[in-house]
Amino acid sequence: MLNCRQASEFLNISSVRVKQLLKENADLGFEKTEVNNGMIKISSKAMTSLLSMRGLSFKHKRIVIKQQKGGVGGTSLSLISSMRLAQKGARILYIDLDSEANATSFLAKADFDIGNANTMLEIFKNGTSASECVVDTRFENISMIPSKGMLRRVDRLLSDKNPKLLMDKMLASVENDFDIIFMDLPPTYTRLTESAYLAADLVILPYDTSSFSIEGVMLTYEDLQASIAEYEVKREIEVKVLMNKYSTTTVASKEAFSAMAKIMNDKILPFTIKASSDIVNCINNGKNLFESKANAEVKANIDELCDYIAPLQTSSARH
Ligand SMILES: Nc1ncnc2c1ncn2[C@@H]1O[C@H](COP(=O)(O)OP(=O)(O)O)[C@@H](O)[C@H]1O
Ligand SMILES: [Mg+2]
Repeated sequence: MLNCRQASEFLNISSVRVKQLLKENADLGFEKTEVNNGMIKISSKAMTSLLSMRGLSFKHKRIVIKQQKGGVGGTSLSLISSMRLAQKGARILYIDLDSEANATSFLAKADFDIGNANTMLEIFKNGTSASECVVDTRFENISMIPSKGMLRRVDRLLSDKNPKLLMDKMLASVENDFDIIFMDLPPTYTRLTESAYLAADLVILPYDTSSFSIEGVMLTYEDLQASIAEYEVKREIEVKVLMNKYSTTTVASKEAFSAMAKIMNDKILPFTIKASSDIVNCINNGKNLFESKANAEVKANIDELCDYIAPLQTSSARH
């Protein structure tokens, strides 16, 4: 939840005006935590309403933060950005396409029944509708389509399907209720992941100092370009490269940044995500980085990423 000052900065109005709006719209529901000297905490849903009162919205977007190489922060960055954007009022759909289901475990409510959950496997195998798979999570404003181990079997069902349409159609059937859709992928380039990349509006390829991860970025980029050509994909897919686990104290980070900048000069994002145990801890402990006493620099990095992923627009421009 945001406090009044954070909400006022984000909405670009004074704290007094935020309080006024909350008072005038008592049904929005906000909490006053007396322990914090009556500090007002604004729920994610109240932020969604405040944004719409201000005539602002998040541009609808489908996001993939992933590349073929695993362990570079695809899931961590997707989860942390989801939680931050939800806090700011965005309605998020998180689709877990990785049969390891790490994000599903992180997001699931305590009473979530994984055995009976519907995943992408049920969509493609039984024709279950995507909306029947959407469940609430522990976090306000974040819904998910979960994953489970059996999802590893999905690819054998898809061999004769056109990847251009597979995810795109499925997303079209649920996306009206959401501002931002995150697709969390396994570290492979299969029919299913190919289809998710082709259905995305923005693909962010994360990498770190390891040369394998730099190579992974190049391979994923090449594979994606080949798929776009092969299936004559006309929709625009923005591709960016993001350096994660950046350390200012090691030469390796600087070198990896400039090496990538040389190869992908117009694709590399001008900011990086700092290497930080706060990221590891918040994911391991099931916490929102922004509800913890994490390093301010890491939080600023994530905010920069969120602003890039989902800048606000005036609602009239929404499509
Ligand atoms: N900025 C970071 N600083 C430190 N550790 C990180 C950072 N981003 C990710 N990690 C760690 O790297 C590991 C792999 O991240 P993960 O999100 O699971 O990657 P992927 O989904 O791409 O396989 C995890 O242990 C995670 O905590
Ligand atoms: Mg992952």
